[in-house]
Amino acid sequence: MKKIIIAIDGVSSGGKSTMAKDLARELGYIYVDSGAMYRAITLYALKNGLIKDKGVDTDTLKSKMDTISITFSFNPETGRPDTFLNGENVETIIRGMEVSGYVSKVSALDFVRKAVVVKLQEMGKEKGIVMDGRDIGTVVFPEAELKIYLTASLEVRARRRMEELIAKGTPSSYEEVLENLISRDALDMNRTESPLRKADDAIVLDNSDMTIEEQKKWLLEQYKRAAGK
Ligand code: DC
Repeated sequence: MKKIIIAIDGVSSGGKSTMAKDLARELGYIYVDSGAMYRAITLYALKNGLIKDKGVDTDTLKSKMDTISITFSFNPETGRPDTFLNGENVETIIRGMEVSGYVSKVSALDFVRKAVVVKLQEMGKEKGIVMDGRDIGTVVFPEAELKIYLTASLEVRARRRMEELIAKGTPSSYEEVLENLISRDALDMNRTESPLRKADDAIVLDNSDMTIEEQKKWLLEQYKRAAGK
């Protein structure tokens, strides 16, 4: 079958990365978690004192963009790529509540988005890629052969996120997780630059009541249809 680009967009903690990662492994495709790039840039800004109560020091961050290197390296233990910021493995810290609390602000900045989009497009040049995010089907790869828009109820997503944080050894309260999801949904959907929205040609999946196995089967069917065309 021909190599294609698979774009999986949707709300926070909707299960995009689980779906994307499993499909990539099954197909021998590259998996790219675009959110990790925005998270790593947010961590850079936090570490360098560029996020204060007033907001982000955009002038300094903009001037430093060329010095920020984000790379991925497959971790056989987790079966997914670890994220490296200027050579340092930051996979755990970028998933924590501090980065989660600021990432929507940083990812709303136009110069940040432009830099990330260029890198993501580069990664997909050869196709054979599954990428998840918010604007993959609309902005990064509008020509993707398969576009999925994933959604799930707020309660289901909060529960999943809590389990994820517990597994990572950084537990958080249900209220805090829920609040973070609500505010990120609002920021992601209402920002001026590439807001989260379903691409016109994306297939919607609400996975609130689906098992991972059911999702996998569904997604594989969508892939076969799209790649077989
Ligand atoms: O998928 P995630 O929760 O790790 O993404 C982190 C943040 O990055 C999320 O709040 C929105 C932003 N993001 C984005 O704006 N565009 C993408 N393609 C991916 C993520």
